[in-house]
Amino acid sequence: MRFEITAKDAMGRVGKLQTPHGVVETPALMPVINPNIRFIPPADMKKYGAEILITNSYIIYRSRKLRETALEKGLHGLLGVDIPVMTDSGSFQLMVYGDVEITNSEIVRFQNEIKSDIVTPLDIPTPPDAEYGTAMSDLEETLRREKEAEEIHESYGHDNLLSIPVQGSTHTELRRHSAREANGLNGDVFAIGAVVPLLDSYRFADVAKIVLASKSILTPTKPVHLFGAGHPMIFALFTAMGIDLFDSAAYALFAKDDRYLTPYGTLKLEEIQYFPCSCPVCLNHTPEELRKMNKNERAYLIAEHNLYVSFEEIRRVKQAIKSNELFELVERRIRAHPYLIQAWREIRNHLELLEKHDPSAKKVFFYLGRESVFRPAVKRHQERVMQVEIEKDEIVISSDSGIPADFYLRPVFGVVPAELMESYPAGHAETYDDLEDEAYTVAVEGLKKFMDANRDKKIRLVVDDKWRRYLNEIQN
Ligand code: GUN
Ligand code: ZN
Repeated sequence: MRFEITAKDAMGRVGKLQTPHGVVETPALMPVINPNIRFIPPADMKKYGAEILITNSYIIYRSRKLRETALEKGLHGLLGVDIPVMTDSGSFQLMVYGDVEITNSEIVRFQNEIKSDIVTPLDIPTPPDAEYGTAMSDLEETLRREKEAEEIHESYGHDNLLSIPVQGSTHTELRRHSAREANGLNGDVFAIGAVVPLLDSYRFADVAKIVLASKSILTPTKPVHLFGAGHPMIFALFTAMGIDLFDSAAYALFAKDDRYLTPYGTLKLEEIQYFPCSCPVCLNHTPEELRKMNKNERAYLIAEHNLYVSFEEIRRVKQAIKSNELFELVERRIRAHPYLIQAWREIRNHLELLEKHDPSAKKVFFYLGRESVFRPAVKRHQERVMQVEIEKDEIVISSDSGIPADFYLRPVFGVVPAELMESYPAGHAETYDDLEDEAYTVAVEGLKKFMDANRDKKIRLVVDDKWRRYLNEIQN
């Protein structure tokens, strides 16, 4: 097995991906190296936290000097690094310029010859909102190229990995078709493609639909890369939807534009009076000092900060998975932008998938907003309560925990047996008074199901006016 999952939370995982140049822990962020541009040296990337890099084999191939060096010394010799390096194929150039001067078989062979750790076919990144027919014929060509790439890749017999892109534009049924075909190939990594235009225009809900449609089909034992996703603001969200690999050109592109990354959005350097960060750059410089520097020096420092915060966020996401607090982290992060909230709410259309992957034993349940009621812990609790064997003929359900009762009514969870009042989830939940409507309506729905399941009992409800209001609403 090339990929071993060591911890899970929501649909996120911490895993170990084996490559010829070593093991990479996921979720991982791959900084994009442009082999044509001298910027942060690839060998320095480890210092910021990178365990794997990504570069573009087409850019290397097109330049005679780079190509010959790569063929002679290998990709790692060319870049001067010993950590794993993934290569892209020129598909991004295909998307931007509409054409590339290379075939799929040529670029797949080239990536193998320069000893790339993860090889990518020349897939066709159909832009968002393409006509169905166009998206389908592009996808058919992508699938043909993937099959060809698989055969070429196997003929080398190297132990490097093959990435299988998932395409289909914004048509979720085509994404599912692409994912089904990808499962049938001997690839090692899946890569969800052509989402950059959506990310650039903050269409996060559309990206979420694509990711969830793909994840609903893709073999869960292989890692999934989200091509072109490099802003730390979205790492928690998409990790929770099952993404394992991100790549960042953003650290450099944003820096060249005086844009400063944070896990809750982008700041313009001109607007910053105080750096909200303690990385070496931010500790040793003031925003004013940076503004006075020459452009190249400034871009370098902002890029360094961008890398530090991006890897900091990756570590935070990994820790959240290990401590089963990824839902809490996502619900905090999505508050940075309304479109992130909208994107996370797409999870409601995939609750079964989420429930299949999310572990059931956790320590705490922090209620952090309306979205907390989507967590599988709520549904699981309500289903479990319906299974409880009740021996009495008459039971008391009370919304007031100060009076003796058989069951208590709690926001979010609904009916909680007295003996489970100290157990996870309801007993380990931190909530507050005056929660949002959702917290009561989901509880009342649970109560209704419980009462239906126990129709043969006499149930006495002792509830205050607030609960009475929600109960009446449900009954009307
Ligand atoms: N980089 C950004 N998007 C894509 C994509 O869809 N395919 C490939 N190969 N690279 C990309
Ligand atoms: Zn910083």
